[in-house]
Amino acid sequence: MTLPALDGILTPADAQALAAGILPASVERFVDGAAGAGLTLDANRTALDRLHLVPRVLTDVSTTSTAATLLGAPTTLPAAVAPMAYQKAVHPMGELGAARAASAAGIPFTACTFSSTPIEDITATGATTWFQLYWLRDRGLTRDLLARVEAAGVQALMLTVDTPRMGRRLADLRAGFTLPAGVTAAHFALGADGLPAGGRDGVSAIAAQTAHLVDPSLSWADLEWLHAQTTLPLVLKGVLDPQDADRAAEGAVAGLVVSNHGGRQLDGALAAADALPYVVEAVAERCQVLLDSGIRSGTDILKALALGADGVLLGRPVLWGLAAGGEAAVRRVLGLFQEELEHALALAGCPGPAAAARLRVGRALGGGIR
Ligand SMILES: Cc1cc2nc3c(=O)[nH]c(=O)nc-3n(C[C@H](O)[C@H](O)[C@H](O)COP(=O)(O)O)c2cc1C
Repeated sequence: MTLPALDGILTPADAQALAAGILPASVERFVDGAAGAGLTLDANRTALDRLHLVPRVLTDVSTTSTAATLLGAPTTLPAAVAPMAYQKAVHPMGELGAARAASAAGIPFTACTFSSTPIEDITATGATTWFQLYWLRDRGLTRDLLARVEAAGVQALMLTVDTPRMGRRLADLRAGFTLPAGVTAAHFALGADGLPAGGRDGVSAIAAQTAHLVDPSLSWADLEWLHAQTTLPLVLKGVLDPQDADRAAEGAVAGLVVSNHGGRQLDGALAAADALPYVVEAVAERCQVLLDSGIRSGTDILKALALGADGVLLGRPVLWGLAAGGEAAVRRVLGLFQEELEHALALAGCPGPAAAARLRVGRALGGGIR
């Protein structure tokens, strides 16, 4: 018997395989691609794969729950959708499909500065919505954008700090990647903001847009200006160094995302899961710590929790679902993460995410138990 496509999705990799058969090659490369030789992309997986959980026994797991609280919002699992730009390149439903699925799954959706759908339409889905901010050269534009996202009902602001300029994504550069026709940055008026629309050999349109709009001079002092503009809780995304984490936690941040942008920025950067325990230690519970970059299963979420994270961001698997079958397939992918996490929690002897923080973790290479 052939299963209908959605039931056939038993892992995010199944959605990826379906997406590969649907997406134009250029968009597939944009989603799956990484910076440089892809060393950090691979390291993210290797780091998670070599972590081994040490289950607890005799703990009564007749009742389990995956529920958590992220940045003050109750969630059905300790996860949110990562900010990913231009989702209409992947499926005509774009951000609306993914946000509706996040809402149905009971997890927050992170909308992007470079969203292909306006923020008002995204919050109208009813999803708990966070907003990812790139530091724009034009402070007036930033101020307007902040006022706009607050008015739309966004509940947290996530400032990306690992992108003073775009990583060298060779596949996009070689192809002179351009967004598919009709896919634009919904928060910017093409003419007015002078966004370069086209790519050319050696330059991707997205890298050109980032260079045009994003201000690489961002530094710690600017965070004060940002705090003065908004009452929203602030999260810094893209922190790997414990000293940076300590400094951020010293200020008024609500959270950090330990991330290397899914290997899309500095190739050769440390795997996010390897950085996580050091960041957790440096933060010492002064703010929440989330992990992204390579999360592909409920077990990966459990590993992140065991290393001290409060939750994770789900990246490419959401786009694979979106490509494979719009909102319904994203629901399916998010449902898998929830089912797998619940299952893994029970088998590890944890009635819920809080108990997971007390699990020990062994490393296949390097030996020993932490
Ligand atoms: C197609 C695509 C677009 C992305 N756009 C953004 C963005 O606009 N801002 C941002 O902070 N991160 C962006 N990211 C990075 C994700 O937020 C996240 O850090 C990364 O996807 C995690 O790695 P993983 O997908 O391998 O799990 C993007 C990722 C992808 C795949």
